[in-house]
Amino acid sequence: MNLEKLLVDVKEIAYNAGELIKNPQTIEVFSKSGKHNYVTQMDKKISDYLLSQLPLILPGSVVLSEEGEDRNTADTSLVWIVDPIDGTTNYMYHFRLSAISIALMKDGKAVLAVVYNPFINEMYWAAKDAGAYLNGETINVGNDESINHTLVLAETDPYSNRASNHTFLWLNQLFQSCIDIRITGSAALDFCYIAAGRAGAFLTPQLDPWDMAAGYLIMAEAGGIATHFDGSPLLFSGSETAIAGNPQIYHELLDFFNKESLAIILM
Ligand code: 2AM
Ligand code: CA
Repeated sequence: MNLEKLLVDVKEIAYNAGELIKNPQTIEVFSKSGKHNYVTQMDKKISDYLLSQLPLILPGSVVLSEEGEDRNTADTSLVWIVDPIDGTTNYMYHFRLSAISIALMKDGKAVLAVVYNPFINEMYWAAKDAGAYLNGETINVGNDESINHTLVLAETDPYSNRASNHTFLWLNQLFQSCIDIRITGSAALDFCYIAAGRAGAFLTPQLDPWDMAAGYLIMAEAGGIATHFDGSPLLFSGSETAIAGNPQIYHELLDFFNKESLAIILM
C-alpha cells in the first residue's frame, strides 16, 4: 500500500467535501439520540460522498462513518473511520470551526489521516512514521513545560451530560493553574491544535472513534501522546475518555487524574 499516493487522493476527497460544506443552500437540522445531539442534511450528504469515494481509491476497504449505517468491518483489515462533519453544532451556528475527519485504520491502527477545516482552509494530514503537516508545512507539538504555562483544550460530552459534574470539576482545578481553557466544539481539531503547538493539553470525558482516529494520528506524528484517563491506550472501537498533550504535559495530566482518583468513574 502506497500511503503517499493514497494521501494525495484522500486530500482531494476531503477538499471536495469541504467545497460542499462551504456552499449550503440552507442548513436543515435533525435531532439524533441524546440531548442536543444534532445532524444536518450536510452531515448526511458528506457521509454519502465519503462512503462512495473512499472504497474506490483503496479496493477492499470498508468505511465506518458517524452518519453511515452500521458496517461489518470484521472481514477486512482496512477500515476508513470518518466523521463527515466534526463540530456539527459549530456548523449549525456558522462558527467556522468544523472539520471533515478521515482516518485509515490498518489492523486497528491509524496509518493515514486528513482533518480539513474548509472555512479557514486548514488541512492537516499525517501518515504513519512520516510526520504531520498543516497545509504542507511540518508541524510539531509545542514545548510548554507544564500545565501552569499552557492553554488547555477540553470537550464536555454535551449529548449526554453524564460526565458534566466531573468534567467541570476537573476543568475548574486545571483552570486554577493553566493559562486559560478553550472548548472548541471539534475534537478532531483539538487534536490538530495540540499537534500544531496551539495548545498544550486536551481532555474529554467521552469521544467516539470518528471524533478521534484521524486527529490522534496527526497529533502522535507531531510528537504528542494520548491515552485514556488511566493511561491505557486509545482503542478507537467505542466511547472512550482521552487525555492528550506534548509528552511533558501529557504526563502531568496523567498524574493529575491518578492523584485525584478522578478518572475512575468514567472508565
Ligand atoms: P460531532 O460534532 O461530530 O457531533 C463537541 O463536543 C465534540 O465532541 C465534537 O467533536 C463532537 O462530535 C464530540 N462529541 C460530543 N458529545 C459526544 C459524545 N457523547 N460522544 C462522542 N462524541 C461526542
Ligand atoms: Ca459528526
